[in-house]
Amino acid sequence: MKRQIILLLFCLYVVIIQGCKKQAEVANSVVSNDISFENPSYFPTTTTYDFQQNPVNTATFELGKALFYDGILSRNGKISCGSCHLQAQAFVQVDHAFSHGIDDHLTARNTPALQNLAWSPYFFWVGGVPSLYRTSMSPLENPLEMDEKIANVLVKLKNHPNYPSRFAKAFGDTAITQDRFLKALAQFMVMLVSANSKYDQVVYKKNISFTQDEQDGYSLFQQKCVNCHPEPLFTDHKFRNNGIQNEPFADIGRAEASAVEPRDVGLFKTPSLRNVALTYPYMHNGSITTLEKVIEHYNSGVINSSTLDVEFKKQIPVGIRINAEEKRKLVAFLNTLTDDTFIRDKRFSE
Ligand code: HEC
Ligand code: HEC
Repeated sequence: MKRQIILLLFCLYVVIIQGCKKQAEVANSVVSNDISFENPSYFPTTTTYDFQQNPVNTATFELGKALFYDGILSRNGKISCGSCHLQAQAFVQVDHAFSHGIDDHLTARNTPALQNLAWSPYFFWVGGVPSLYRTSMSPLENPLEMDEKIANVLVKLKNHPNYPSRFAKAFGDTAITQDRFLKALAQFMVMLVSANSKYDQVVYKKNISFTQDEQDGYSLFQQKCVNCHPEPLFTDHKFRNNGIQNEPFADIGRAEASAVEPRDVGLFKTPSLRNVALTYPYMHNGSITTLEKVIEHYNSGVINSSTLDVEFKKQIPVGIRINAEEKRKLVAFLNTLTDDTFIRDKRFSE
């Protein structure tokens, strides 16, 4: 009798342990494999990325990630998208006003962060490209960046030992087409959602609080900056001139994409300020090195010109008056926009 009970207990033990193990395995596989797009509840609903045409799935996302980090996309095999867009810096290349592309050529403009692209109505500093799907073509074929032809890339991928099977896993068969290539990269990039900074945790998740300086900085930000950098994305996605360049403008900006409309000369897309502490140097030309200097620019450095934004023309001299203490508090607030979860998220790592 005693022996039977022991046997029974042993059997129960085996069943429970195995059951738990199975569950743990399932839980792990869900965490590491299930890629799906989530719209943070307090963000606007995305309207610009076509989730119907190109719904995100794990195999295609993984393929897009492999392509993003592979130098095979460039003429000399050395420059990947990830060599200018580094995760640890919210997908910019820091320290350089202009990024180093192929053969050490410098790009014409500063690299912007890749984040929350699902909410962007157009891409690049001058908004020349209206869909995320199309963005990969221009760095790939740009002679200063990757200097390759898409047709060549497709041939290289077809002859590669792994890519045909990766395309098959993502799309059902081994055909490697431009459409599939662009879809995979777009799926990787649309997943780059940054929504877990201290700011998000304080303002929306309400699980921690700001320091006094950060709180004061937040109020100042709401008075002086939100017209162009509105929450929660910190960009209005409009083209504006914030007084960086003297006339005649070295870089005509938005006019390049809008058939040289005089009113668009010298305008650039307002960048999001999420992760801004990581994305120095600043502005389309990388001409400002620190956040303190950016704020001093708004206070005393704004250059008047025919297309300078009316926001800055409300006072003389043009700009936004900000004293030293306010500057310190604004910087404290901007630092709360850094999202450590995003820059360490293994799903996005090489
Ligand atoms: C040599 C450096 C370099 C490489 C390589 C590079 N980029 Fe970029 N990327 C830039 C620069 C610089 C800009 C801004 C250009 C502009 O606006 O004129 C940019 C802008 C972008 C944007 C627009 C972001 C926005 O918010 O408007 C996307 C998307 C992008 N790159 C994706 C890619 C992809 C995908 C690849 C690989 C196929 C890639 N980049 C390769 C430097 C690079
Ligand atoms: C009238 C619109 C406007 C206002 C007001 C404004 N900005 Fe900007 N901001 C812009 C534009 C446009 C750019 C990009 C300009 C360029 O690169 O030529 C920019 C760029 C920046 C950048 C650089 C980001 C990067 O990634 O390069 C920072 C930081 C910044 N603004 C912070 C602020 C702060 C802080 C305030 C309030 C004191 C403020 N802005 C007010 C329009 C504005």
